[in-house]
Amino acid sequence: MPSNRRTFAIISHPDAGKTTLTEKLLLQGGAIHMAGEVKARGAARRARSDWMKIEQQRGISVTSSVMTFEKAYDGETITFNLLDTPGHEDFSEDTYRTLTAVDSAIMVLDAAAGIEPQTLKLFEVCRLRSVPIITLINKIDREGRDPFELLDEIADKLALDVSPMSWPVGMGGLFEGVYDFEQDELYLPEGDDKAFRGKTVKLAGPGDPKLADHLSADGVARVAEEGLLAREGYAPFDFEAYRNGDLTPVFFGSALKEFGVEAIIDAIARHAPPPRPQPAGDGEVSPERDEVTGFIFKVQANMDPNHRDRIAFMRQVSGTFRRGMKLTPSGLGKPIAVHSPILFFAQDREIADTAQPGDIIGIPNHGTLRVGDTLSEKDEVRFTGLPNFAPEILRRVRLKDPTKTKQLRKALDDLSEEGVIQVFYPELGAQSIIGVVGQLQLDVLISRLSAEYKVDASLEDSPFATARWLAGSEEDLREFERFNQANLARDRDGDLVFMAKSGWDVGYQEEKNPKLTFSATKER
Ligand code: G4P
Repeated sequence: MPSNRRTFAIISHPDAGKTTLTEKLLLQGGAIHMAGEVKARGAARRARSDWMKIEQQRGISVTSSVMTFEKAYDGETITFNLLDTPGHEDFSEDTYRTLTAVDSAIMVLDAAAGIEPQTLKLFEVCRLRSVPIITLINKIDREGRDPFELLDEIADKLALDVSPMSWPVGMGGLFEGVYDFEQDELYLPEGDDKAFRGKTVKLAGPGDPKLADHLSADGVARVAEEGLLAREGYAPFDFEAYRNGDLTPVFFGSALKEFGVEAIIDAIARHAPPPRPQPAGDGEVSPERDEVTGFIFKVQANMDPNHRDRIAFMRQVSGTFRRGMKLTPSGLGKPIAVHSPILFFAQDREIADTAQPGDIIGIPNHGTLRVGDTLSEKDEVRFTGLPNFAPEILRRVRLKDPTKTKQLRKALDDLSEEGVIQVFYPELGAQSIIGVVGQLQLDVLISRLSAEYKVDASLEDSPFATARWLAGSEEDLREFERFNQANLARDRDGDLVFMAKSGWDVGYQEEKNPKLTFSATKER
């Protein structure tokens, strides 16, 4: 039986409308009844269990990391799992890993801005894994750029085929509605706020004379001329090309005014892939496999220093999970019983009894589970594709109180386990070096050191700009070590890392040492 799960994320540049769209998607899916209720319900719900209380103190919401809603299609209920990607300017490893746990993505663009830097970065991560993408060009109720120009920009900057699925009848002050190419339907605004409230008109095509009953002369011309040009000038929607990540269907809409929201959900339900097989070493694990398997893509700790419990987020890959089931984490070698899994169904059952491939399970633990771990019944598979990235910022941590060395070490260990930072221990000298991909991770580090570990610290420049994991024969590595000790460190797993002063430095050493590989990513 084909799976009814759709596990996806929204990628966008800050301010494009991700939060607004999320809220409207949940509304449409019946997961919440009124915009704004997300929070009220969340707070009421959080009071129910201990870890949720802790989460409340911390002021962050674990539950909002995964949002689930259901909708019926042709007699079948589709379950949507929407994973939240942190919405910061900074690219963080956390975001990357969240994208490894989804099967497809919605890309939200601001119609006035087009492709922005963060959109591009997140898109590239999706492309690495051929994650299929549905595009929403948002905020057409405001002045925006020419729709043709926007389509061309997506095609050029992302090297993707674009297939317009709908067309804006004007934007901003001239906005009169949206024409749906697939259904040949006109979606019309109503009321003073010009929002979509379900008013649609079925038409014979973009040249239908009935358009004049609902649009101004300009609007009619827009649909007839631009609409026709758009429909004929771009690739028609091609399911295979979309699934392969080569084509993106593009919807025009306004999350705020609810134009295009339903079309996006429908597209996810009808076109987006159900749970995909996941890479594991040389092969992959199919969702059809009987055995329960999954991988941890995120770990979130709480702020209560007395209770070091954490929630590990597992993306289920195969099997039917049942509460109380024993799973073996790859890092541990012995099974753990998962008694109180957190399943993120929108209905009132956050502690559910079963889960399917594509679902996310929150597993409370005390530090046994690490990002990148595989969990499985038989301990036979290892999922791959959750790399660490070569840091782009390297810093030394300076303690304000030198008697806190032990606490600092513990904190750095914990936080690197969680994937907040990476720690490198230089071969010469005692001061460890912190590596991150984005500045945000450093801010999180400092605030958590002080809040959770009572360690007051500041960051100092380090002489290094980036790092590369080294691989080669024992002999070649030793030889390299002999001359470069001052630039070598070990990571937490004891693997050898070349600390480079610049990108040029990396290139130079690569050239000089052709037998060694200098790797910018590492998979455990
Ligand atoms: P983000 O999560 O991607 O950062 O964006 P968010 O949804 O928070 O939206 C950013 C701003 O853009 C918000 O306005 C939001 O109301 C507005 N917005 C989102 N979608 C649309 C749309 O389709 N049309 C229009 N006109 N505006 C849209 P804000 O003023 O920053 O916040 P608020 O005070 O309105 O909540």
